[in-house]
Amino acid sequence: MDENSIAIIPAAHEVTRSYDTEFKFHQDPDFRYLTGFPEPDAIAVINPKAKKPFTLYVRPRDPLMETWYGRRQGVEGAVKNYGADKAVSIDKFAADLGKILDGHDVLYYRFAVDHKLDQTILGYLTEQRVRRLKSAYPPHTIKDPTIITGEMRLHKDKEEIGLMQKAADIAAEAHILAMKSVKPGMNESQVESLMEAYMKDKGAAGVAYNSIIGGGDNATILHYVENNMPLKDGDLILIDAGAQYEGYASDITRTFPVNGKFSKAQREVYDVVLDVQRKCIDFTVVGNTHQKRQEYSIELLTEGMKQLGLLKGKTQDLIKKKAYLKYYMHGVGHWLGLDVHDAGRYYVDQQASQSRPYAPGMALTVEPGLYIPPDDKSAPAKYRGIGIRIEDDVIVTETGNINLTAAVTKDPDEIEALMAKRR
Ligand code: GLY
Ligand code: MN
Ligand code: MN
Repeated sequence: MDENSIAIIPAAHEVTRSYDTEFKFHQDPDFRYLTGFPEPDAIAVINPKAKKPFTLYVRPRDPLMETWYGRRQGVEGAVKNYGADKAVSIDKFAADLGKILDGHDVLYYRFAVDHKLDQTILGYLTEQRVRRLKSAYPPHTIKDPTIITGEMRLHKDKEEIGLMQKAADIAAEAHILAMKSVKPGMNESQVESLMEAYMKDKGAAGVAYNSIIGGGDNATILHYVENNMPLKDGDLILIDAGAQYEGYASDITRTFPVNGKFSKAQREVYDVVLDVQRKCIDFTVVGNTHQKRQEYSIELLTEGMKQLGLLKGKTQDLIKKKAYLKYYMHGVGHWLGLDVHDAGRYYVDQQASQSRPYAPGMALTVEPGLYIPPDDKSAPAKYRGIGIRIEDDVIVTETGNINLTAAVTKDPDEIEALMAKRR
């Protein structure tokens, strides 16, 4: 942090689902990363120059509220269990704001996330600006703390990688369970609940994002999350599901035949995607940039589309015209961590012209796909309605990378052999 600065980092709040019920609480990842504190409505104040740099404002203990809505750490727990130098009731935050801000040149605070807190802070600053005679002055510069936290979160340390491996293992096993269970006639929702139950059983808080369980041409809808259709004999199923473990996300996609055997046409498309996916994993190493990897995936998949007869023409012309977008319309991967699409800038300059080079400790997904719309008259009929994505999670190392999700096979012969053993 800058010389003579202070940071205000809010926790998340509960979000109303309807009337008087809330969605399951999910802590703000930056707040979690910095404090570990699991409750809503807290605020961390970090003052690097103070003798006691870390203050947590938290919900106070309250027997009535705790009887209705659950246990609270209170100010005692915030100090004792979460290492706060000092803890204060959140009710006092607004009144303390002057004391917190005055005399610091720079405030690290992310505007436009917590609108109520924005108003509290702006309210105080507004009040001070019109009172020029005051001896103390509020910060003259406000900076987005995610410039710092994004960089911290982007580079995973050993402990984080251990947690990510665990999140990956749990999800990988859930995908294996799905391969061993899927049969024609089953509903997508049954696959979803089977996998989620498994993840929770193994210690995950739940899924890291809404699972995508798409049978047949539902797989060509990128964010298909209805997951409520029967699985048909002869169709593929695309499962994109990850686990959240100690806050960390895994993000795995596998595509396999509902009846346990790829058709010839399905296998042709699958083999193209698998070959590209393996090559893109090998490309996710020190020396390459994020943008180069995207371009590499586009080039390989455009070649694949030509090979399948989906596109015709010179590869470079097709790339220039972005012809591939019809069948491959997303990125080949993203940072992964506390968020499934994790924090950290993809460019190293403000103009977003210099793509970030990969470095040891970065966690990324590798997830090329091909999606052939069911009504695409220009595609060979045998491929229409086929959607395939294969996604693994890797950590960049000094010498290459580690595939965290290798435990769930993507080899089509191995998938068929595994499925042949199901009851
Ligand atoms: N499941 C979200 C993604 O793959 O990016
Ligand atoms: Mn992903
Ligand atoms: Mn995914």
